[in-house]
Amino acid sequence: MAQKTIVILISGSGTNLQAIIDAVKAEQIDASISAVISNRADAKGLERARQQHINAVVIDQNKYQDRVSYDQALISEIDTYKPDLIVLAGFMRILSDEFISHFQHSILNIHPSLLPEFKGLHTHRKALEASKQQHGASVHFVSNELDSGPVVIQAEVPVLATDTEASLAERVLHLEHVIYPMAIAWYIDGRLKLNDNKVLLDNKVLRRPALWKADQLILSEQH
Ligand code: GAR
Repeated sequence: MAQKTIVILISGSGTNLQAIIDAVKAEQIDASISAVISNRADAKGLERARQQHINAVVIDQNKYQDRVSYDQALISEIDTYKPDLIVLAGFMRILSDEFISHFQHSILNIHPSLLPEFKGLHTHRKALEASKQQHGASVHFVSNELDSGPVVIQAEVPVLATDTEASLAERVLHLEHVIYPMAIAWYIDGRLKLNDNKVLLDNKVLRRPALWKADQLILSEQH
């Protein structure tokens, strides 16, 4: 069977992209990365892609008048690769309904909070302001609302009394690099699916997102 392919969308530094590149190289993810696409020409992640000889494409958001025309250009570019999966790795744009419908059930995103808490920006600051004891990150299938859609896996970290926004962000980001390649590998291996808006892992409905906590994977039956 032909090898599966992934297209990764970024806007910034691309540390999640790097974790995914590393997981592909380590054969944890059995797929190739056809392209990395950025909405900004200055995204540092583009350089990470180029260093690995991965197609690095800029579709500059400043050159399009509205979301619909931008997303049409994005759809046309992605369609040339016919990817099995689209991975949003710090892609900081809201996607149109047209885009999401076009690639239905095959877009994953990572967001730095325990969804449904703290959608949008400044999630670490919001967790500190709300005096949360636990914070983390979520990998989810993308639906039409911002940072929404069925959650696949979450990583949880305790919030420490000494935490600043930066220290909390760093611990969460470190775990993003664990759970995102894991979820992508499940999808590529055909273990992870979205059916009727429910997440299936190994043909079983996940009643709750899988949980990565204290270096262990906990599935819904167990927590
Ligand atoms: C990550 O923390 C990711 O969860 C977040 O952007 C950062 C990108 O970092 N994504 C969102 O906030 C999406 N709503 P990276 O470029 O180093 O991977």
